[in-house]
Amino acid sequence: MAVAVAICPGSFDPITIGHVDIVGRASKMFDKVIMLTMVNRKKVSLFTPEERVDFMRRATAKFPNVEVDFFDGLLADYAKEKGAIAIVKGLRALSDFDDEFKQALANKKIAPGVETVFLVTSAEHMFLSSSVVKEIGSFGGDIGGFVPPEIKEDIIKLIRERCTQ
Ligand code: PNS
Repeated sequence: MAVAVAICPGSFDPITIGHVDIVGRASKMFDKVIMLTMVNRKKVSLFTPEERVDFMRRATAKFPNVEVDFFDGLLADYAKEKGAIAIVKGLRALSDFDDEFKQALANKKIAPGVETVFLVTSAEHMFLSSSVVKEIGSFGGDIGGFVPPEIKEDIIKLIRERCTQ
């Protein structure tokens, strides 16, 4: 029987509890979900790909059908190579939609067999983003409610080392 594989892509710089919520929900919809950290050419990352992957692995260890990977290339190419049937993205607000809609259409053009599926964010995560975590962390604020507990201290340490106030 064919295995339904989905890709859950993002910068994940770093992974937040909002991302864990989305990938956990996707893991109930597909046989296998690959949570993929990628390069967003519009952003400068604070964490290295290795650090992001390590955080993501530790934060998603509780989901047996979720794998974590890094790919520096086109999402549509990766999805095709893995035989994925879907790309899963979380949507927080209408403001996310325009860019996500264009990306979905571009990905569909390159990989027509791969559908983009949008999951609506859980209401309590509407405000949450990796940027908010870095901003609050860089001023010494408490990011405890925003990132998975198992990686919180490591994230705080690296933000402190890398961000000047
Ligand atoms: O978390 P982000 O930054 O919103 O994730 C965006 C990401 C990394 C998924 C997107 O920039 C991406 O797909 N990058 C890989 C390059 C690619 O395939 N671009 C085509 C989309 S038009």
